[in-house]
Amino acid sequence: MPYTLTTPLYYVNDQPHLGSVYTTLACDALARFQRLDQLEVVFITGVDEHGQKIQRMADQKGMSPQSYCDTISQRYRDLWSRWSISQDRFVRTTNPHHSELVEQFFDRVQASGDIISGRQIGWYCVGCEEYKDNTDHAVAPSCPIHQKALEWRDEENLFFRLSRYQNEIEQLVAQDDFITPANRRQEVRNFVARGLRDFSISRVNLSWGLPVPGHPGHVFYVWFDALLGYLTALLDDGGSINLNRLKECGWPASIHIIGKDIIRFHAIFWPAMLLSAGLPIPQRIFGHGFLTREGQKMGKSLGNILDPGLLLNQYGADAVRWYLLRDIQFGDDGDFQQQRFTCLVNNDLANTIGNLLNRTSSMARKWFNDSVPPNGIGIQVDHDLAVKAQTAIDTVFRSLPELEFKSAAEAILRLAIAANSHLNNTAPWNRIKQPNQIDGVAEDLYVVLESTRIVGLLLAPLVPDLSERILNQLACKLDSKNWKDQLRWGGLITGTKLPKPVPVMQRLEIMKDH
Ligand code: MSP
Repeated sequence: MPYTLTTPLYYVNDQPHLGSVYTTLACDALARFQRLDQLEVVFITGVDEHGQKIQRMADQKGMSPQSYCDTISQRYRDLWSRWSISQDRFVRTTNPHHSELVEQFFDRVQASGDIISGRQIGWYCVGCEEYKDNTDHAVAPSCPIHQKALEWRDEENLFFRLSRYQNEIEQLVAQDDFITPANRRQEVRNFVARGLRDFSISRVNLSWGLPVPGHPGHVFYVWFDALLGYLTALLDDGGSINLNRLKECGWPASIHIIGKDIIRFHAIFWPAMLLSAGLPIPQRIFGHGFLTREGQKMGKSLGNILDPGLLLNQYGADAVRWYLLRDIQFGDDGDFQQQRFTCLVNNDLANTIGNLLNRTSSMARKWFNDSVPPNGIGIQVDHDLAVKAQTAIDTVFRSLPELEFKSAAEAILRLAIAANSHLNNTAPWNRIKQPNQIDGVAEDLYVVLESTRIVGLLLAPLVPDLSERILNQLACKLDSKNWKDQLRWGGLITGTKLPKPVPVMQRLEIMKDH
């Protein structure tokens, strides 16, 4: 059974921003880890292309919604390829297979008696594509997230009978392993405990949406349509919704990784829709925190949006990946700070790891015929650095499936720091000048190079390009089918020719004006 993981399907109302990059990078790191751990992975990302917000944006640009969607969707695709995102599927909700699937799904839900007609009255936020709880018509509120005036709506809509699933959803969210991390669970439980209300799944007076079969004038509410994109991504050759086929293709998803803003849709509405359609529900929802920039919310009005394309051009993918994954506890909110970004990348990657590799390999080349030195009395698995390497490996294997990127990165860094200390304490540059020390020097250089090899291998899911450059410098190559074996202490082969050292990570200069 495949391990299926998903990013949200991003709205194409705007350019991709750092927030979407953040979620996608994290998913990519997890996907890469699970593949290296020999799971069959289906990594889904894509775009959510219907709804009022997108229609209005296309109008503003003087484009048809479809060509507007084509343009922005392509930008997402291009951006993901520039960030080396390893997705297996990129789904678009304007794909014709998707509308067929939505219709079939609707039929199943209708057959369960879960579609009723009703009147939806209230304040709507087009930015959130959601009705807000405030129903007092006299006071015109604004959306706390988008800081824009809400719009009053009074429509005949079709409703999904969410209230019928109160018990099932209560039980589901009561499980500790369904919503993670723990701090996101309680708010969902509180919401469910207040009583689930039916929600409208169609819109009238909107043309940019999928038509609801049998209900002329109605299009599907964008969230009803978008969540189903996860299934379309799996059944990308069309065909009917069939339990066995879905299972083979990778449903239920092992994990939906999303920002905390859209947790209700994934942890409540989506499972209820699936239960109604008689389909399995996702195994886990991870709601990560939000990024701010220098302590401030990023937004167009503040003019402080970080353009991911520029960031990539100026600093490269490794630097940004490392900073975001290593510095921010994934479940918590995090702040992008230029100064800290530069310092961490320079200290961790250029100095601690890059210099370690560079100087050790230079010494090995100088004193041992351009090659990996002999490792003296053989492979010592009880050597202090071997033990520390094993601790780093164990931590990475424990942390990454739990999306604890920070603790995995720190464990790898601790190994590099320990290798640096070993080098400094044993000072092979002094010992080599003394008589009869060559074997000891060889051994010290060997254990440090071997630790660096393990650092390089462990970095593969987090910063794949840097990992490759490190391994190249050690004349090694990642073997994606045998990563675990490669991680065994002693894999570096004495006598292997080492290439001329080149810096694996450039130091960053602080740049202004993004
Ligand atoms: N289209 C819906 C999702 C449908 S899923 C079936 C949507 N799209 S979105 O473009 O608004 O993307 C929201 C997601 O972008 C968040 O859940 C989060 O993953 C990411 N982020 C957007 N801004 C962010 C930050 N400032 N910080 C971190 N991630 C944020 O909602």
